[in-house]
Amino acid sequence: MRVIKDGRRLPKTALQILATLGWAGLLYLCWVVGVDSWERSDFSLGAMQGVIPELDPFNERYRANPGLTLFHTVPGLLFAILGPLQFVGPIRRRLPVVHRFSGALFLLVGITSGIAAFVMTLRFPIWGAGQNTAISLVASVFMVYAFVVAFRHVRGRRFGLHREWMIRGFATGIAVAFFRVLLDDVLPRMGMDDFTTRWNTVVAVSFPVLLLCAELWIRATRPHRPSTAPATTEKEPAAPV
Ligand code: HEM
Repeated sequence: MRVIKDGRRLPKTALQILATLGWAGLLYLCWVVGVDSWERSDFSLGAMQGVIPELDPFNERYRANPGLTLFHTVPGLLFAILGPLQFVGPIRRRLPVVHRFSGALFLLVGITSGIAAFVMTLRFPIWGAGQNTAISLVASVFMVYAFVVAFRHVRGRRFGLHREWMIRGFATGIAVAFFRVLLDDVLPRMGMDDFTTRWNTVVAVSFPVLLLCAELWIRATRPHRPSTAPATTEKEPAAPV
């Protein structure tokens, strides 16, 4: 794994340790939300065929809205699979055609996923407190915005800025996996037993925490003078993710 050399703000070893931990965490989060997306999609197909009986209030909402759920969870599944590939340095450097092709697909999936999250938030009975709707709307708009900006930068060959906005968009989407880990594994162990209290807590903290991590990583690995001018012969910057 290469670590950016020019103008790094942390010692190389610290960046390497952070990059390794970051990758392990990222793959775990993608696995968690990928499995959830798969299971919820499978559930929705069952609901469409009418083979799922009436359920508890939380799951009943999904049973009653299978089309809307699928529209959100299928792009979500692709997001969890394609997202990490975009940040693999050797693929970017040695297989640029693969990077471009899977990147175009990932941007499509990321933007569709954000639009689906927006529509779902408006049309689905969102669980928990009223502010969850507002947070979800803001997060979905921001994710779409980040991917559109990333697309514009890559079209203008501003690769450094493209990388930064891809990281922001991806961090927003993958925050929903961090959400699940906090909800099911961390907060119950801290004695927070009530499901809805946990739900409201994780909705409020997940997006800011993941975006903060993304911003710190961007700043730790950003070259001193990021190029804002279009590059003609610029190569992909040697960034760790
Ligand atoms: C800004 C991004 C996103 C927002 C705002 C968002 C929002 C939402 C909302 C509001 C729900 C319904 C929650 C409820 O039960 O009340 C939901 C469900 C879900 N989302 Fe997302 N989502 C986003 C991105 C993603 C991504 C990228 C994935 C997959 C990688 C994903 C996977 C899921 C899954 C699997 C469910 C069903 C949850 C369950 O079965 O309990 N979401 N999302």
